[in-house]
Amino acid sequence: MAKKLLLKDDHIPGINTYEVYRRQGGYASVEKALKQMTPDAVVEEVKKSGLRGRGGAGFPTGMKWSFLAKPPGVPRYLVCNADESEPGTFKDRYLMERIPHLLIEGMITSSFALGANTSYIYIRGEYFYVSQILEKAIEEAYAAGWLGKNILGTDYSLDLYVQVGAGAYICGEETALLESLEGKRGNPRIKPPFPAVKGLYDCPTVVNNVETIAAVVPIVNDGGDAYAKIGVGKSTGTKLISASGHINKPGVYEIELGVPVEEFIFSDQYCGGIRNGKKLKAVVAGGSSVPILPDNLILKTAAGEPRLMTYESLSDGGFQTGTMLGSGGFIVMDEDTSIVKNLYTFARFYHHESCGQCSPCREGTGWMEKILHKILDGHGTLKDVDLLWDIQSKIEGKTICPLGEAAAWPVAAAIRHFRHEFEEYVKIHLP
Ligand SMILES: Cc1cc2nc3c(=O)[nH]c(=O)nc-3n(C[C@H](O)[C@H](O)[C@H](O)COP(=O)(O)O)c2cc1C
Repeated sequence: MAKKLLLKDDHIPGINTYEVYRRQGGYASVEKALKQMTPDAVVEEVKKSGLRGRGGAGFPTGMKWSFLAKPPGVPRYLVCNADESEPGTFKDRYLMERIPHLLIEGMITSSFALGANTSYIYIRGEYFYVSQILEKAIEEAYAAGWLGKNILGTDYSLDLYVQVGAGAYICGEETALLESLEGKRGNPRIKPPFPAVKGLYDCPTVVNNVETIAAVVPIVNDGGDAYAKIGVGKSTGTKLISASGHINKPGVYEIELGVPVEEFIFSDQYCGGIRNGKKLKAVVAGGSSVPILPDNLILKTAAGEPRLMTYESLSDGGFQTGTMLGSGGFIVMDEDTSIVKNLYTFARFYHHESCGQCSPCREGTGWMEKILHKILDGHGTLKDVDLLWDIQSKIEGKTICPLGEAAAWPVAAAIRHFRHEFEEYVKIHLP
């Protein structure tokens, strides 16, 4: 049986309440950190754990924490990124809905480690009802003395706030999030300076994903070494995967990093195979912005090795034959799926969500949507497929934030692996 750290209690009735969460051993990491550890010792355990950011980029969390500037007399902030707008990704929602206190506990322990006395959870507007669940949990945590002044009689104090966004994908990008949190339009900032030096209100700030912050709880409870023993190589610990698409058992799964992709898709423990007995055609493994892979390449690397659910294995071969683990939004497509139609859906999304600051992204996403519409509408030519390729290649690396790449990569991968489908659309409709 696979080890679960975050969702081990999610089947317990009432686990969303303080009483039941506490009875299951909840808030032990706060007690341990505040009473037995120094902030630096907590950072050290997170470093040892090898935990990598679960928001998409997979940056080592302990290293990010150690970059936090500490000028005397200047407040530091921890901001939890609960914007979760990447199509195909819904694991943070599941975690916050089911076990809100796990996130609150992680926020307290992590804020202590970073020396933050005010912290925020920034949540997307569409998750308004989840924000209410969090507000209730925070109220319970204040009432029980886990938040507020002199927590557990120590000299550590923390206030925690929930801020609801207005439903913009771009506000998941950490600097756009900070702008929005400050009450401004959510436009990404030019970096450097990075948030670790100049973040919220120009003060040193760490922005971490919901799952990253929740993972700090078992890391502090069991030690960084125990966490690092789970997984494969530099992909340590467990990961929440949002599994959707043409599978028998869509849902959120907590996997030990290193499970073979084939096992994840076909075993009854996870997705339970392709529905209606159909064949697997393709997978988008890490949320809509990562390159799509056809069945042969998602199951095995170009060298014929079984592909594993790890950061390294999924990216093996670069973008020629590999992809990314990203946020773990695992979208499975069966043999009846039109890759071109699917891509059009993604392209519309990115065009709609581009903040418009950078022309390659603002204009490029619009052009890509228009050309895909033209192809699907029966008016495309072979030149349009080349034009699509050309446009995506002019976005990557030319924008302030990676929304440009997020829009370009799916287009490049679809053409790279499924060019024949674009050509069929064009040829079928030739007069
Ligand atoms: C367009 C865009 C959207 C993003 N959306 C999210 C999001 O919804 N949640 C998230 O945690 N990270 C998101 N990120 C990544 C964040 O910028 C940042 O890397 C992350 O919150 C850091 O947390 P982590 O180190 O715990 O992963 C997004 C990035 C981009 C470019």
